[in-house]
Amino acid sequence: MIKISPSILAADIWRLGDEVRKIEAAGAEMLHIDVMDGHFVPNITFGVPVTACIRPQTNLILDVHLMLSEPLKYISAFSKAGADIITFHVEADSNPAEVIAEIHRLNKRAGLSLKPGTPAEAVYPYLKDVDMVLVMTVEPGFGGQKFRMETMEKLSDLSRRCKKMGYPVDFEVDGGISAVTAPVVIENGANILVAGSAVFGQPDYSAALEGLRGKR
Ligand code: DX5
Ligand code: ZN
Repeated sequence: MIKISPSILAADIWRLGDEVRKIEAAGAEMLHIDVMDGHFVPNITFGVPVTACIRPQTNLILDVHLMLSEPLKYISAFSKAGADIITFHVEADSNPAEVIAEIHRLNKRAGLSLKPGTPAEAVYPYLKDVDMVLVMTVEPGFGGQKFRMETMEKLSDLSRRCKKMGYPVDFEVDGGISAVTAPVVIENGANILVAGSAVFGQPDYSAALEGLRGKR
């Protein structure tokens, strides 16, 4: 089953509570929270307090995407704040095996992400341990960018590899996902679609979610 994780980066932050309620009512399964430190990526967004405010207000799976240079330092704080899935980048400075172990120690699901320019091989050693791989389909840092088709080869390589090895890994994609690119990423093995502008930028959230699921 395809799950949609709308990214609050594209939401109206002034009315964040209403936005989350509306997207949950519209049928989203997850909520994607983009955490940026102004160092790993050239942008700063929100962090632990915003995640903690959202937690008691929704039953959506909180899908926290850490774009941080030192993710290991913040796993415990995001876990306490109520994250369900904590995803960090293989290009960050923390040791990936240690970060995955810390996330699992706190009984959360661990996601590992890679930027468009990072080869699939970079995450091979961790596929047996992670719960999710997030293949970035744009350069992380900003919403509203154009989908990068060249990342599909990597997505299909990684998803086929996990299938072959029998690893139960979810495949998430993030960046430029729309009703047009959704069938392409699904074809290449994605089962969780992050979408910012294609959902929160639209007048009708249910219609936008259905469009991503290919129902419109
Ligand atoms: C980019 C973020 C994305 C972003 C996607 O660094 O990780 O989650 O919100 O935005 P869209 O869907 O508009 O490309
Ligand atoms: Zn993201």
